[in-house]
Amino acid sequence: MENLREELIDKAKTLRVLPTLHSIIERLFVILDDKNSSFSDLNDVIKYDQAVSSKIISIANSAYYSRGIEIFSLQRAMITMGFEEVKNIVMCLVFVENVLKELKLRTDIILELWKHSVFVACAARTLAGRMFSEDPQKVFTIALLHDIGKIIFYITVENYNELIAKVHSKGKSLNREEREIYGTDHEELGYILSVKWQFPEEFSQIIRYHHDGKVAGKHESLLRLVRAADRFSTASVHDSEPETFILLKERDGIMKEVEKIMNIFQLNSHGTR
Ligand SMILES: [Fe+2]
Ligand SMILES: [Fe+2]
Repeated sequence: MENLREELIDKAKTLRVLPTLHSIIERLFVILDDKNSSFSDLNDVIKYDQAVSSKIISIANSAYYSRGIEIFSLQRAMITMGFEEVKNIVMCLVFVENVLKELKLRTDIILELWKHSVFVACAARTLAGRMFSEDPQKVFTIALLHDIGKIIFYITVENYNELIAKVHSKGKSLNREEREIYGTDHEELGYILSVKWQFPEEFSQIIRYHHDGKVAGKHESLLRLVRAADRFSTASVHDSEPETFILLKERDGIMKEVEKIMNIFQLNSHGTR
């Protein structure tokens, strides 16, 4: 077990991603964190990245946003979609293009992790909006990234998806099971990645403790939102919690958002496009 643990930790420490990820994520987090940030700040971050800007323009021209007038410029595209929406989409884009696709994982695996991440992100954002406790945009981003540690298992352990399915069907705890078998869990591995990729400290804390454990008081309400949304996605809901009540009520709206993002990125079982 010690060897397995070492191998996994080592993978997390040495996993290489595209340089774009680094530079975009770093600057994107600054914008996300700054309430006074504007369209032009965001424009400055993405305009030099050809892949990201052309994708934003094509998304603005999709049925979800288009008002019948064809859009050619990044600035127009951002105005059409709205500032908050562009931030969400850019985050999703970075996650899909620079992390998931780059690692050359099997498409069904990418899809599984992607769908779960999007669901938790949409549910947590809705929750934040209804409870007025945290900035919904920030909550979306962190929830999207909460299970990033699973990537290390997916690329190192064969049949990791079967372990997830087994754990869920038996109602067991995934990270406890991971620790028993491998000596580490996706929270610890995600934490290593998040520090390496220079995520903001609160993001690293949530990634590290999203299943159990405690975070510093100032991160508690953020953690509550992500946990509730994550549990909701696996249906292991706690009926007594106010979060569950809200999520059940908002379920249709959340599903619609998930579907929209899934359609925009068109990741399907026939291949990633
Ligand atoms: Fe998790
Ligand atoms: Fe999760």
